[in-house]
Amino acid sequence: MYGEEILSCEKYNTLKNYIQHGNVTVYEHCIHVALLSIRINRKLGLGCKERDLVRGALLHDYFLYDWHDAEAPVNTHPKLHGFYHPGIALKNAVKDYPLTEREKDIIAKHMWPLTVKPPRCREAWVICLADKYSSTLETLKIRKGKIGINYA
Ligand SMILES: [Fe+2]
Ligand SMILES: [Fe+2]
Repeated sequence: MYGEEILSCEKYNTLKNYIQHGNVTVYEHCIHVALLSIRINRKLGLGCKERDLVRGALLHDYFLYDWHDAEAPVNTHPKLHGFYHPGIALKNAVKDYPLTEREKDIIAKHMWPLTVKPPRCREAWVICLADKYSSTLETLKIRKGKIGINYA
């Protein structure tokens, strides 16, 4: 399975301590995005490199702080989290893992159009879409408990 080398890292598992939306952790959110991106790729026959999709999805929100906590030392621009966190995630990911250019593009551009520069590869477009879709579902399902998306 792609991403095993990331999921087995102790540091990566700290994402379980941070909430992304509602009661969904950053760890769970990244897995939702990875599964959804594979589903989109296969359904639409886009021919994306699945290893890049999975690894890019797992690391796209690797910013490693609670973005709801304005006092968190790394959270220097709490109100502008949407603009700043792709760059922070990329910096952290490059430090901890060897990344392909596609994986870097996925992480850096996943918040497009906030990032202004659009994605350069189809893998980054797919993650951009999967992230927005997953985030919307996670936010909408806040009151109903954890989401149970069937990605099969
Ligand atoms: Fe993000
Ligand atoms: Fe995300």
